[in-house]
Amino acid sequence: MEKIVMKGGKPLCGKVKIGGAKNAALPLISSSILLDGECEFSNVPQLKDVETMCSLLKLMGAEFELKQHNLKIDASNINKTLAPYELVRTMRASILVLGPLLAKYKRASVSLPGGCAIGERPVNLHIEALRKLGAFVEVKNGYIETKAKKLKGEEIYFDIPTVTGTENVIMAATLADGVTTILNAAQEPEVVDLANFLNSCGAKIEGAGTKNIVIKGVSSLKANKVHNIIYDRIEAGTYMVLTCATKGDVEIENAPYQFLHAVVEKLKDVGASINVKKNGIRIKMKGKIKHTDIETMPYPGFPTDMQPQFTSLLSIADGSSVITETIFEKRFSHVPELTRMGANIKVSGNHAIIEGVDHLNGAPVTATDIRAAASLIVAGLAACGETVMFGVHHLDRGYENLEQKIRALSGSIRREKSE
Ligand code: EPZ
Repeated sequence: MEKIVMKGGKPLCGKVKIGGAKNAALPLISSSILLDGECEFSNVPQLKDVETMCSLLKLMGAEFELKQHNLKIDASNINKTLAPYELVRTMRASILVLGPLLAKYKRASVSLPGGCAIGERPVNLHIEALRKLGAFVEVKNGYIETKAKKLKGEEIYFDIPTVTGTENVIMAATLADGVTTILNAAQEPEVVDLANFLNSCGAKIEGAGTKNIVIKGVSSLKANKVHNIIYDRIEAGTYMVLTCATKGDVEIENAPYQFLHAVVEKLKDVGASINVKKNGIRIKMKGKIKHTDIETMPYPGFPTDMQPQFTSLLSIADGSSVITETIFEKRFSHVPELTRMGANIKVSGNHAIIEGVDHLNGAPVTATDIRAAASLIVAGLAACGETVMFGVHHLDRGYENLEQKIRALSGSIRREKSE
């Protein structure tokens, strides 16, 4: 087991480079199942979840070569269409193999992902959509068993703009007969990156990034150039919050400002000065952090994946803030840990009412998911004294070289073995 040891109170200053987006890399890797032959991705983040997705495809018979931030995959000779529970339970995004396996191999057996610390995480919308496209889908013994003679284009309406649900349907529809229209689709930049890659392989996808996406089925898909993965807006947002919480001054290279409007607006609300540059964002924080209210929404609204980090930041703001989490039903597991550090936060339903305190105090804490881990790093680096964070494996799923990057910004943080 490992732990992260932090000493708070030092302003983060200097430059940090953002990497490729985890939530773009995962659907992109899965989409290689649709292709005839090999494909190649650059700007691939070195993350546990990326390794897990590659291992899942390897289990099915795909070949891949992961070198630094470059990944070559040939998933054209898959001989197994099974995503086993042992693997899926470690990464819910494994559900993203469902659509491509069905489209290319006309069958799939994918373990139900199950819930996690932030919610029950159902996949009913994925299943209903694939049934509409003509798949036979049965859920039994904890697995989604599905097969189809041929997928046929249909109109799919999503009650909720599910991100991976939209991605699964896009991938399934690329090789279906006829036209599929997705209404109330997710508009996240990661959905757009997937559509752009598939279009470069011969798919006919229009409207990605809007609520209505139209996919005209084609007979086959083949990669013909290296795809450079978009930068990670959540990693960038996390370093912006870290800078504010420690009253620092950091240049965040490759921060995709065009995907960060909602986050930048809230950082300006709390008093950060933000300078958008050609290849990134410079952020500075001086004086007291101002309070503000936040409501998480589907993109382009304020991202739920930035809510835990802002909860930490607002716990040391001047005055009271209300955070409303509308996407996941229990994404406040970081709050009890912050309370142990001296935060004054009351959770009522999907609201967190935060009374800002003058400062947090270091304490032993435990992370329960990727972004809760990020929020505890924010708190630990802002607090007085030493914080020890357990549950480090959550951090490694979503942040590449986080300690090294923070140390390069003069933050006091190290990883140690824990007994
Ligand atoms: C994606 O998860 C992201 N993961 C999540 O990031 C992110 O928090 C989430 O979108 C919301 O933006 C990846 O892209 C790999 P949803 P996803 O389906 O697709 C409900 C991180 O930290 N729903 O958009 O699983 C669901 O319960 C992770 O990087 C159904 O009810 O999220 C939730 O309340 C965490 N039925 C809401 O929709 C379904 O079939 C949005 O979920 C599917 C979803």
